[in-house]
Amino acid sequence: MGEYKRPVVSVVGAGNVGEHVANLVAIREIANVRMFDLARKDGDKVYEIVKGKALDIKQMAAAIDCDVEVEGFTVTPEGEGYEPLKGSDIVVVTAGFPRRPGMSRDDLLSKNVGIIRTISERIAQYAPDAIVIVVSNPVDVLTYAALKLTGFPANKVMGMAGVLDTARFKAFISMELKVSVKNINAYVLGSHGDDMVPLLSVSNVGGEPLTKLISEERLKEIVERTKFGGGEIVSYMGTSAYHAPGASVVEMIEAILKDKKEILPCSVYLDGDAAKHYEAEDICIGVPVKLGAHGVEEVLKLDFTEEEKQLWQSSVKSVKSGIERIKELGLI
Ligand code: NAI
Ligand code: 2OP
Repeated sequence: MGEYKRPVVSVVGAGNVGEHVANLVAIREIANVRMFDLARKDGDKVYEIVKGKALDIKQMAAAIDCDVEVEGFTVTPEGEGYEPLKGSDIVVVTAGFPRRPGMSRDDLLSKNVGIIRTISERIAQYAPDAIVIVVSNPVDVLTYAALKLTGFPANKVMGMAGVLDTARFKAFISMELKVSVKNINAYVLGSHGDDMVPLLSVSNVGGEPLTKLISEERLKEIVERTKFGGGEIVSYMGTSAYHAPGASVVEMIEAILKDKKEILPCSVYLDGDAAKHYEAEDICIGVPVKLGAHGVEEVLKLDFTEEEKQLWQSSVKSVKSGIERIKELGLI
C-alpha cells in the first residue's frame, strides 16, 4: 500500500481553536492534518495531549466514515520537534495565550510575539512553500511579524479575523431580521479589535441595503455588539471563542486548497496600489482579498464613505502602534 497524496494542513497550537480547525478539516475531508503542541507537566507526569487529541479526531473520523490522516506531534518552546511540518500546504498558527477577562488583545502582544518568532523560523526551515494563516492575537500585528520572520512573499502569509468578525455581524443581522445568513452580504474590515470597521455602505440583505431594513439606532447597537463580539464570549466563558474562529479558518483553508478564488476579508500586507488606495503602507490589516491556490491572489479596492474612512484610519493607527512596539522590542 502506498502513501496518501492528500494536501496537508498543519496546526501549530492544538488548543481550543487549533483542535476545532483540525476537527473541521477532518470532518470535511479537506486534507490530512498534523497537530503540534507543547507537552503538559503535572508533577512528575508528562502528558503529550496533542497526540491524544489527534488520535481522538482520527477515531471520530473513522466513526463517521471520513478518510483522513490525523497525527499529533509534541514540540518544545525552544523550537524542537517541528520536522513533520515538511510537506505542509498550509500551516495554521494558533499557538499562544488566549484572552482572559479584562485583558485586551494587545495585552497578549508581548506574550505571543516570542512564540510566533520561534514558529515562523521553523515554518521557514521545514515548510518553505507553505501558506501561513495566523490566528494568534493580536492577529494583525502577529501576521506582520510572521511575514517578516518567515521571509515569505506577502501572498503567502495572512491573518484570520475578518471572516470571524463578518460571521458575527451576519449572525446578529440574521437574529434581528429573521433571515437566512446566506442572503446577508456584509464585510467587517480593518483591525481585529475595538477599531474594526463594519462596512454598512456595502452591506445588504438580498440586495436591499441594510440601512433601509434596520433603524439607525438599532444598527448602531448591532455594530457595537459585533465590535465586542469576542469580548462578549470571553465574559461568559472566561476564555475566548473557538467554534466560530475554527470554522472561519477552515473557510480560508478551503478557499485556498480548492482554488475557489473566493472573496474573503483577511488580514494581509498592503503595498503597491492597494497600499495607495487604502492609504496604509507596511501594515497587515483586514481587507477583502481573493483567496485561491496561490494564497492572496488580489486585494480588492473598496471605496469607503467619510464615516468609514475615519473608522478605517483609527484601525490603521492601532495596528501601526502594535507594529512599532514589536520593532522597538527588537523582535522583527
Ligand atoms: P488555547 O490556550 O486553548 O490554545 C493555545 C495553544 O497554544 C495551547 O494548547 C498551548 O499549549 C499552545 N502553545 C503555547 N505556546 C506554544 C508554543 N511555544 N509552541 C506550540 N504551542 C504552544 O487558546 P485558543 O483559545 O486556542 O486561542 C489561541 C490564540 O488564538 C490566542 O492568541 C487567541 O487570542 C487567538 N484567537 C484569535 C482569533 C482571531 O479571530 N484571530 C479568534 C480566537 C482566538
Ligand atoms: C475573538 O474575537 C478573542 O480574537 C478572539 O473571539
